[in-house]
Amino acid sequence: MSFDRSIKIAPSILSADFANFGQEIQAIEAQGADWVHIDVMDGHFVPNLTFGPMAVKAFRPHVKTVMDVHLMIAPVDPYIDAYADAGADVLTAHVEAGPHIHRTLQAIRAAGMKAGVALNPGTPVEAVAHLLNLTDLICVMTVNPGFGGQKFIDMTSKIRSLRSMIGDRPVHIEIDGGVDPITAPLVAEAGADVLVAGSAVFKGGSVDTPEVYGENIRNIRAAASGVWA
Ligand code: DX5
Ligand code: ZN
Repeated sequence: MSFDRSIKIAPSILSADFANFGQEIQAIEAQGADWVHIDVMDGHFVPNLTFGPMAVKAFRPHVKTVMDVHLMIAPVDPYIDAYADAGADVLTAHVEAGPHIHRTLQAIRAAGMKAGVALNPGTPVEAVAHLLNLTDLICVMTVNPGFGGQKFIDMTSKIRSLRSMIGDRPVHIEIDGGVDPITAPLVAEAGADVLVAGSAVFKGGSVDTPEVYGENIRNIRAAASGVWA
């Protein structure tokens, strides 16, 4: 995984057909996804429940790009090795998930993964000020985590502050929640480079009509790049 700040579209399989993850992952990658975003929810940190490390391990052979695992669980530390074993490339923990995010990020890197830290909409950017050298990705949530298809919450001033705090460090800014062709240019212009999109990628398509996924991905990318497809 080399570092660059070009726009990367990361479809969230939270909006995929839950009975058909392998084909759904293959379809989005064939249609231009740069990363595959996997939302792990525990029914405790967030009021929804998705899948655990065994399911993520089963997804791994289908992901040829980057497997970006977003943990919405608390606690995180007891599960880090299981997600390393499952083959996560990036493992992201929430700063709100416990008192020891500094230790968690160190443990994620020590387990051989890129370390991400996510910020809920209500959490100030200062929460990551002392973590910038321990992290490879900062995820700015633009919805309250737990569900796909929610309305985008404008966090552009937080993204701008973060971009200036990061400076030349090789740290991605990821945006998660309500990203579509209307909101993508706002976050890209503010400094984001990884755009997670669930409903906006999967809407209207299926593994039988994967070209719809391709059109949706191209529309988000073109909007973020300031050029309509
Ligand atoms: C929300 C998840 C997101 C979500 C995005 O808790 O972390 O990744 O799936 O879905 P959309 O793009 O539909 O807002
Ligand atoms: Zn997510």
